Amino acid sequence: MQDSLQQFVPDDQVYKYLVNNVWTSSTSNQLIDVLSPIDHSLVGKVQAMTKQEVADLVQNSQQGFFVWSNMTMDKRSEILTLSSQILEKNIDILTHMLCWEIGKTYEDSRDEVLRTAKLIQFYAEEGRRIRNESLYSEVFPGFGDTKIAVTKRVPLGVVLAISPFNYPVNEGAPKLVGALIAGNSVIFKPSLQGAISALYMTECFRLAGLPAGVLNVVTGRSSEIGDELVSNSHIKAINFTGSTQTADRIRAKMGIIPFIAGLSGKDASIILDDANIDLAIPEVAKGAFSYSGQRCTAIKRVLVHEKIADSFVEKLKEYVSKHFVLGDPRERQTTQGPVISMDTVNLVDALREDALAKGADLVLGEKNDTFTNRLYYPCTIIDHVTEDMRLAWEEPFGPILPIIRIKSIDEAISIANKSDFGLQSSVFTRSLDSAFYIAKRLDVGTVQINGKDARGPDHFPFLGVKQSGIGQVQGAAYLIEAMTRIKTIVINTNE
Ligand code: NAP
Ligand code: G3H
Repeated sequence: MQDSLQQFVPDDQVYKYLVNNVWTSSTSNQLIDVLSPIDHSLVGKVQAMTKQEVADLVQNSQQGFFVWSNMTMDKRSEILTLSSQILEKNIDILTHMLCWEIGKTYEDSRDEVLRTAKLIQFYAEEGRRIRNESLYSEVFPGFGDTKIAVTKRVPLGVVLAISPFNYPVNEGAPKLVGALIAGNSVIFKPSLQGAISALYMTECFRLAGLPAGVLNVVTGRSSEIGDELVSNSHIKAINFTGSTQTADRIRAKMGIIPFIAGLSGKDASIILDDANIDLAIPEVAKGAFSYSGQRCTAIKRVLVHEKIADSFVEKLKEYVSKHFVLGDPRERQTTQGPVISMDTVNLVDALREDALAKGADLVLGEKNDTFTNRLYYPCTIIDHVTEDMRLAWEEPFGPILPIIRIKSIDEAISIANKSDFGLQSSVFTRSLDSAFYIAKRLDVGTVQINGKDARGPDHFPFLGVKQSGIGQVQGAAYLIEAMTRIKTIVINTNE
């Protein structure tokens, strides 16, 4: 069996889209350059698919669904397990691509691939544990022992998986395997920036023996093909991760089908005056600045008790200055790479200027001339941020952290809950009572006690409320269930 991705590396850097298990060139004859944020070098060119090609691909996915949904869970699990093994075997090439394409550090890129291989394996096993049940009419008044309902979780059909730029492999994979293990076929639309890494991952599934049409991959400009894709009536569910803004657009175009949405955030980390500061400092620093703050679960504001605020800020500055080394993410000593685009630089600049103009203090993040490429943005900490500043409320998706000083636990809860977003929050305190008091009152999907905000482990439930999601849950068993519906057969007994 061919299981090396070396053969997948094209001599001319041109990548194709996948339909019916065939890597295919678009009839548009248009290619889109994917440039590295590291140095603007060409990572590769991807196909700009046409609307007609998208429509044809959806048809093909319907045929794939018929074949795949009729395979046994055992066989599906076996193929996905093999995909996981192929992915892990090719960790070096995937790590290199991720690092180059999205500017994630070498170590974090490697972690992303390894974590994904484990995730695929876990989902492949979890599928075998889907629970079906039988119900008896005798427990309901008036029916006696006349009916037995047998329920079975069945797949939804063709599922559209749309992933963001920041985790091309690890945000793509659960959407694929969560749907596939349950018997759905999948159309995968990765973000343009990240698409090449996503294509490499897709090839692992193809090599593992997924039948034709079960996993098809779309590349192209969202402005050109996005509406066609999300509004196609043969799509039976959409699993989307990305910004709230894009989710709004998709919702306006899609049909009446399940929509799983992991969206933007403004996670607050609450530091009480009895917190273990030696624990909190590294957690908050990594929570805020790993991958330059380009994580949905990044800590995007710190609410620290005024009694300890001065020393907290000083220690945080010291830690971040020492541990975050800005540079080429391919080099091992680098712990912070470039941000993804000038849009991010411009937004972070605007939030920073607005806060400083309104009286906040720059603690860390002086700009210098070390880098001519402006995507290398320094870790920035801004203290004395107040509620009239944009930085208190807007998601920067970049390396900037506002510090808001609070006088009491209830003030912290109030400011945390005023946000439009509700993904996660963290609380640092030595008091379990205070931690629970706060956790119960925060309007978010998850509260972390004495640890940074984070999605994993990948079988934990993960969801956002308010503008951070619509309350549906990712995480192995939850997602697999969301990728199914109940089919009921009622046996009427006439005894
Ligand atoms: P984005 O710009 O909203 O893009 C997300 C995905 O949607 C990409 O694949 C994008 O493709 C696609 N897209 C854009 N317009 C579309 C349309 N009209 N129809 C169909 N698809 C369309 O988000 P991003 O910049 O990649 O990611 C950052 C955002 O995602 C942040 O707000 C972050 O908080 C959020 N996020 C949330 C989670 C979570 O689980 N809660 C996880 C990660 C990220 P193109 O890029 O090719 O346009
Ligand atoms: O960017 C959003 C991701 O879902 C965050 O995942 O907490 O593992 O970095 P993470």
